[in-house]
This record gives sequence, structure tokens and C-alpha cells, in this order.
Amino acid sequence: MKTTSILTCASLAAAASAFVIPQARDTASNSSSTINDTAILNLALTLEHLESAFYSGALSSFTADDFTNDGLPVWARGRFEQIAAHEQAHVQLLSNTLGASATQACNYSFPYTSPSSFAALAQVLSGVGVAAYAGAAQYLTNKDYISTAAAILATEARHASWIAGPVNKANPWSGPYETPLTFDSAYTLGAQFITSCPSSNPSLPVKSFPSLTLSNTTLGQVSEVTAGNNVTVEGQYVAFFSGLSTTFVQVQNGQITIPSNGMGTAYAVLTSGNSSADDSTITAGVVVMQFPYDSTGGIESNARMLMAEDMM
Ligand SMILES: *[C@@H]1O[C@H](CO)[C@@H](O)[C@H](O)[C@H]1NC(C)=O
Ligand SMILES: *[C@@H]1O[C@H](CO)[C@@H](O)[C@H](O)[C@H]1NC(C)=O
Ligand SMILES: *[C@@H]1O[C@H](CO)[C@@H](O)[C@H](O)[C@H]1NC(C)=O
Ligand SMILES: *[C@@H]1O[C@H](CO)[C@@H](O)[C@H](O)[C@H]1NC(C)=O
Ligand SMILES: *[C@@H]1O[C@H](CO)[C@@H](O)[C@H](O)[C@H]1NC(C)=O
Ligand SMILES: *[C@@H]1O[C@H](CO)[C@@H](O)[C@H](O)[C@H]1NC(C)=O
Repeated sequence: MKTTSILTCASLAAAASAFVIPQARDTASNSSSTINDTAILNLALTLEHLESAFYSGALSSFTADDFTNDGLPVWARGRFEQIAAHEQAHVQLLSNTLGASATQACNYSFPYTSPSSFAALAQVLSGVGVAAYAGAAQYLTNKDYISTAAAILATEARHASWIAGPVNKANPWSGPYETPLTFDSAYTLGAQFITSCPSSNPSLPVKSFPSLTLSNTTLGQVSEVTAGNNVTVEGQYVAFFSGLSTTFVQVQNGQITIPSNGMGTAYAVLTSGNSSADDSTITAGVVVMQFPYDSTGGIESNARMLMAEDMM
């Protein structure tokens, strides 16, 4: 997946070719009939296994000196150890809840090469975790699971906020609402780091989308749109998820204009139409976009630009 992060302005004016639907999105649509609580908890567990391996792997690769030599605060590694323990606890809780149905850990490959690129990817992955729980919540039927998921979600959001703010010196939140992701979008973002899984793992009612690439994510600027698996982008729409809003921009001559209202983290997918962006209409994705902003809402000159290289 190609991801980029560029901020040119924090204008709230939407691009002329875009419009916004300010409502909670349906994150499963057609697949909702096949998504039951067991499947949802196993999807959550799939991501928790991944996060657990991600943090523990980085901590076993990098010493405290590696962290500080790479410019990270002296206290960062200890906090990451706490996060790794939390992810392990989430794995335990979900595994115990699912019992014999619980999916097992896979093998993973993460592209970080240094403590700082690990921290950049941690910002992305912790955000995906929060977005996945926020999107899945509406499909849980067991009230106990909803409360448990909310308790996990809140702690994941604290992780995401701490990693983005004190560690990466970026905005600690994106706006008044977190961005719920569809099941397939969340799975797509995680699955790119999975290299192999036990054959005994349950097959889950989710799929990975073909890749989507935007050549330029500068707000208000023109970007070339390309997709993997021979997906034709012409005439389709790029849907930008930001908080509870979705902005659609039609692809014309292989290009779109990036909406100029981005702030914080947003996700972009390709969709077949412009009235809904759910797992039945998304045709490629998911691009993670970062529009860092400072305490005045403007560009933070020392903001670390995230991800282009970290997420490849
Ligand atoms: C829902 O998915 C099933 C199986 O993938 C498909 O046959 C059906 O046409 C879909 N329905 C809608 C409304 O998209
Ligand atoms: C729940 O969904 C899973 C995965 O799609 C399926 O294997 C299982 O049979 C379903 N369970 C029930 C009780 O419907
Ligand atoms: C993980 O990789 C190792 C080494 O290639 C392999 O032996 C093992 O079976 C893999 N495990 C899973 C769960 O895929
Ligand atoms: C993206 O657009 C901006 C503004 O037009 C331009 O300065 C920059 O070079 C572009 N970047 C890429 C990678 O095309
Ligand atoms: C893309 O199309 C070409 C030509 O039709 C074909 O050979 C190739 O297998 C396709 N690739 C994918 C990923 O579908
Ligand atoms: C949305 O799609 C309809 C066709 O389904 C089209 O008529 C309309 O112009 C599109 N709107 C935008 C803003 O692209």
C-alpha cells in the first residue's frame, strides 16, 4: 500500500467536485448478514495478535539506547512495553472469550527499520485498531461484548493519542469523531503485514481489497489514481473517510482533486458509486492519509511527515 502524508493547508472549504455525507456509515452492508459476534471478535483478535507481535517484535529489536539515539524520548520505550503488555492482555481476553473458536497468531512482516519508523507505523496501526472497533461496534449483538469492545477501544485510543502526540509530535486526535472503518477496510490494512497463518484458523467473512495508490495527497491538489488487480479507476469515485463524514470525488482522466478539508488521519478507498462507501461498493484501497496540524489548527513546522516510506 502506498501512503503519503502532506499538509498544505487546513482550509475547511471542500473541493468543488466533492460533497459530504455527514452520517455514520454502514461499515458492513452486504456482508453484515454473515458477520456474527464470533466473526467480529475473531477479526478483532486477528488485529490484536498483529499488534501484539508488532510491539513485542520492535521491543526485542531495539534497545533503550537505540530509541534515544534515534531521537525518541527517554521514557518512550517503557511506555511501549506497557502497550505491548496491553495488546497481549487483549489477545488473552478475546481468546478466552472465543474459546475453541479463537483464531491463532500468524507470522508477520513489518517494514520498520528504526525506532522512529516503528513509532510512525505504530501511529498508523493504533489508529487502524481504533477505527476497526468503532466500525464493528454496531454489529455486535451481545451486550457484554459491546462493553468489552468499548473498554478495549478506549485504551487503544489512548495509545494512539500518546504515540501521535508526545512521541511523534503530531496532532493527538483528528477531530470530534474517530473514523469508523468497514470490516474489509480494517482487514485490508492489517492483512498486508501477515505472511502466513495456521491452516487451522477459521476463515473469516472478510476480504482484502486490491491496492489503491494516490500519487499526491496534497490538500486541494491533483493526484493520479491507480489501483491493483487491473481495477479500472476511470469513472469510479475516491471516497475519503474522515470522522463520520465521507467525501466522494469522481476519477476523471485518471485523476482526482484531493479535497481540501483534510485534518488528522483520513482513509481513502475507491468506490463504484457516490452514494455509499461500504464493503459492497469499495473496489480498491486503503490509503492512510495524515494531515498533521498544530494547536492553532495550522501547519506544525516540525511535524514529522508520516508513512510514505514506512508503510510500503
Ligand atoms: C450480497 O452478496 C451475495 C454473495 O456475495 C451476492 O450474491 C448478492 O448479490 C449481494 N447482494 C447485494 C444486495 O449486493
Ligand atoms: C458465525 O460466523 C462464523 C464465520 O463466518 C461461522 O463459521 C459460524 O458458523 C457462525 N456462527 C453462528 C452461530 O452462526
Ligand atoms: C511461521 O514461519 C515459520 C518459519 O517460516 C514456519 O515454520 C511456521 O509454520 C509459520 N507459522 C505460521 C503460523 O504460519
Ligand atoms: C504534489 O502537489 C504539490 C502541489 O502542486 C507539488 O508541489 C508536489 O510536487 C506534488 N508532489 C508529487 C509527489 O507529485
Ligand atoms: C491483468 O490483466 C492482464 C492482461 O489481461 C493479465 O495477464 C493479468 O493476469 C491481470 N492481472 C491481474 C492481477 O488480474
Ligand atoms: C453522483 O453519481 C450520479 C450518478 O449515479 C451522478 O449523476 C452525479 O453527478 C454524481 N455526483 C457527483 C458529485 O459526482
